[in-house]
Amino acid sequence: MLPPAFAGSAARITLREESMIVNRRNFLGSIIAAGAVGLVAPRSSRAAESTIEILINEPIGKILPDIYSHFIEHLGGVIYDGIWVGEKSRVPNIGGIRRDLVEHLKKIKPGAMRWPGGCFADQYDWRDGIGPRDKRPRRVNFWADTTYKITDSYKQLNTGPQKYEPNWFGTNEFMQFCRLTGAQPYFAANVRSLKVKDFIDWVEYCNAPAGLTSLSDQRAAAGDKDPYNISFWGVGNENWGCGGDMTPEEYATEFRRFTAWLPTYGVKLKLIGSGPNGGDLGWTRRFFTKLMEKGQRMAERMYGWALHYYTGTTGKGNALDYTLDEWYDLIARSDRMESLITQHWQVMGEFDTQRRVKLIVDEWGAWHLQDASLPPGYLYGYPATLRDALISAINLDTFQRHADKVVMANPAQLINTIHSLFLAYEDKFIVTPNYHVFEMYAAHQGAQAVRAEFISPRVSFTRADKPADFWGLGGSASLNGKELTLTAVQPDAKNARETEVNVRGARVMEARARVLSATDIHAHNSFTNPRGLEPRDEKVNVGSSGQLVYRFQPASVTRLQLTLG
Ligand code: AHR
Repeated sequence: MLPPAFAGSAARITLREESMIVNRRNFLGSIIAAGAVGLVAPRSSRAAESTIEILINEPIGKILPDIYSHFIEHLGGVIYDGIWVGEKSRVPNIGGIRRDLVEHLKKIKPGAMRWPGGCFADQYDWRDGIGPRDKRPRRVNFWADTTYKITDSYKQLNTGPQKYEPNWFGTNEFMQFCRLTGAQPYFAANVRSLKVKDFIDWVEYCNAPAGLTSLSDQRAAAGDKDPYNISFWGVGNENWGCGGDMTPEEYATEFRRFTAWLPTYGVKLKLIGSGPNGGDLGWTRRFFTKLMEKGQRMAERMYGWALHYYTGTTGKGNALDYTLDEWYDLIARSDRMESLITQHWQVMGEFDTQRRVKLIVDEWGAWHLQDASLPPGYLYGYPATLRDALISAINLDTFQRHADKVVMANPAQLINTIHSLFLAYEDKFIVTPNYHVFEMYAAHQGAQAVRAEFISPRVSFTRADKPADFWGLGGSASLNGKELTLTAVQPDAKNARETEVNVRGARVMEARARVLSATDIHAHNSFTNPRGLEPRDEKVNVGSSGQLVYRFQPASVTRLQLTLG
């Protein structure tokens, strides 16, 4: 659940590296094989130290816009102040929802929006959040008073919506937020502390046509006559932990009970199972063993199996203050997502032989310590830096390389906590470097992911007084008609990477670059310097026969857009 103590992660990086070596062997094998039948274009020069080979005739899968989904929870400053400021607020708002947030979010084309948690979801009664706002009950927020160890300052909060949940932001307000931003709603149902009947009622409240039932009439009376037609329903959250400390067998039984014979109201429900904590393959294996006791058709019940993995912070845990070795350490460890996807996917395939269930990564990101300068209510809040931006890019590239397996991913969380895209405090509002990565990468949405191989010198650093190293250039590519989008992370903070970019099977006619980088690896935005770090566009020269040599800047995220002939 919380940022782990990161023992063991180094070993997993090795796995990824091994898989890259294997991929490259296969890749080189295929190049040699292709060359033998004359398919390989003659290479320009071999001067560049690095090479990217893009194989446009090797599609992986469509990059669903839902890979660009988000997550909001009633935790710290996410909902209250972050999103909901209230209709009478001096903060510009649309029906109580922060206007700046809506406008920025629309620009990055959000996929789904997961709500109300997180751990909060398994203690939330959706009925508390409907009806006239001034009549809704006030409850103690899950995060403000739990037996789990939360920061002392949060526990000492005396008042405010972060402590006493006022339920001003409930189902109807969440739906309004989704409509304003274009996001697809994704509800997380309470499995730990409510009953199946409550889940069925929530589906009815949301999806039954007005006039059909008392619950749908209540929705209509609140102003929403048309049914919400919610497809995405999460069945609990982290049920191995805050969602009930269940065993995988217990959760599989609950999953079956919660998803049996659900009313659909004509909507194709996409039910999402509460998947593993990072590398817990046992959770996946034992869950599916138990689920399938009722037969293969049980796999039809589940749209996605939701993995959670946070890259836990390094060193002192400070989001802004880290050494160069800590920069490399965290970036290298974020690459663990690659092996988590392949390993869980393999186990799922042992049971779901027809591959009906896909992977969802509905909580990911880098998790540092709360910034002491923020008000105590802003639990787990801190400014993201260039380092976090690289981690965003590595994760998005990983999901895209596995576009055949991953159908949704949601960084935790949208605003004011953990790996956020925005920071807000009363009337102050800024975007973080993570936002810039989402904006740069939006060009991939809906495109066909294609195979790309990155070959470059490794980066060396010191981890726990021992020499360590990892890949020096990584990324992903996608094709949309004649437009090829290549995104790449260059982690080396000191040296640029001169790279030959070869597109196998087409000629590059034109290229444009957008780059997020800085000479200071701690670069970030703040309320006093909101544009401290932002991407810049660059012209790129393409040789007369389509050759492209590009110099990736140190410590950078780059998007290259290539028009093919
Ligand atoms: O994102 C914060 C918390 O982290 C979520 O509530 C929980 O699901 C995870 O442990």
